Amino acid sequence: MTNPTNTETTILIAEDDRAIRFSLACALKAEGYNVIEVGNGDDAIARVASDDPDALLLDLKMPGKGGLEVLAALAGQLAELPVIVITAYGGSAAAIEAMRRGAYDYLTKPFDLDEVQLTLKRALKQRALSSEVKALRSRVPDELDGADDQIALPEPELVGQSAAMREVFKAIGLAAATQAPVLITGESGTGKELVAAALHRHSDRTNGPFIRVNCGALPEGLVESELFGHERGAFTGADRQKPGRFERASGGTIFLDEVGELPLSAQAKILRVLQQCEFERVGGTEILRTDARIISATHRDLSKAVASGQFREDLFYRLNVARIVIPPLRERREDIASLSEHILRHLERRHGWGELSISSEALSVIRDRPWPGNVRQLENALARAAIAARGRTILPEHLDAEETLDPSMPNLDDQIESLPLRALLAEVERRAIQRALITCKGNRTKTAERLGISRRQLFDKIREYDLHP
Ligand SMILES: Nc1ncnc2c1ncn2[C@@H]1O[C@H](COP(=O)(O)OP(=O)(O)OP(=O)(O)O)[C@@H](O)[C@H]1O
Ligand SMILES: [Mg+2]
Repeated sequence: MTNPTNTETTILIAEDDRAIRFSLACALKAEGYNVIEVGNGDDAIARVASDDPDALLLDLKMPGKGGLEVLAALAGQLAELPVIVITAYGGSAAAIEAMRRGAYDYLTKPFDLDEVQLTLKRALKQRALSSEVKALRSRVPDELDGADDQIALPEPELVGQSAAMREVFKAIGLAAATQAPVLITGESGTGKELVAAALHRHSDRTNGPFIRVNCGALPEGLVESELFGHERGAFTGADRQKPGRFERASGGTIFLDEVGELPLSAQAKILRVLQQCEFERVGGTEILRTDARIISATHRDLSKAVASGQFREDLFYRLNVARIVIPPLRERREDIASLSEHILRHLERRHGWGELSISSEALSVIRDRPWPGNVRQLENALARAAIAARGRTILPEHLDAEETLDPSMPNLDDQIESLPLRALLAEVERRAIQRALITCKGNRTKTAERLGISRRQLFDKIREYDLHP
């Protein structure tokens, strides 16, 4: 049965085994494709140049130039020309190398003709989407033609067009003009740290230091010496004097992240800094002064912590002079598209991907999800999807069915040479932690022991990868 929509589509088959080439050509012609057949690598390269095919089925072992050399010769064109490599053995080093060199996918012999058709359809669809994205991108500079005096703006530090985020931006601007303490609240992953940094950058302290303290990650015995410093001999191990973070933040901003986790003893000392701008180092008697501006953040409801006696009421009011509340992502879904764009650009730079894009279907799936882990969870989901899409256009099938613990994931071995190293290492780490959590039924102490890391490291990783034990 001929598919009339395929008649404009040309597929080049490069395969030296005549029987295989013949059966492939017949199957594709039956679907209505235009087919060109060659039996070696040099002819393949020549026909790509002369006939501009829409896809290439490429055997790895051929006389003269083999498939890998053909891929190398076509390196600059692989975004427009999806190449499906045909290899003799599954998972072999050559197949991995082919993926690393930019092949779209690979099939192992003996293959099933339906599988060839399906892979080819996917490759052509992806190619169509990629060129759509390209066309959209290349149109942008045209519209700016004649606007030479327009200065390129730096990348937005915080993304968001929703009314709720515009309120946040306004609040940052207002607070930046003052020296008042600011308390930033919002669920985990909503961007509290980013808001704190923006607040510092926009304030008149921008040239001073921005010192962050993760109050939740400091072991209780070290909180005070970290914040206020210590004198030599103040405790075992204190072999020299050390300035604390309040001291280092003088002239700038100190950011007390997860301030709700501070032990009560440290809370009393911070209150003193807020009231008198003074403090002492641990083990010291000299009274020191700091003019550091205090920004704090918490994902907890501090008024509840006050009610239960875990947080000092007087400190709460002192920290909470100006308040910035960041709404959860599910209450500003109109920001999801631009956030996704922003995140993809970031992934390109960080992991060395080429151009990443997302189809409109995948985007609408994303827009409808609840995102309990907010922007951080969105980042992690897109990073995983980019891996599944092998650094090209993200389609709905590349998104995890559900953001839950799923041990049945594709074999990393197949991707070991086709992924940027950092993406690969992060993925290995995420999976190791996820499996250990499942094995230990969510018990974090056991999981940390099993993985040979501290509980604190485990907590940080769970948050970084947004795992839900
Ligand atoms: N509006 C935004 N624009 C761009 N990136 C954002 C935005 N909001 C959050 N992000 C990104 O999401 C991630 C989480 O943000 P951040 O660490 O600031 O959240 P948080 O509220 O401090 O979370 P937690 O409570 O877990 O510490 C970061 O990588 C940050 O860059
Ligand atoms: Mg944070």
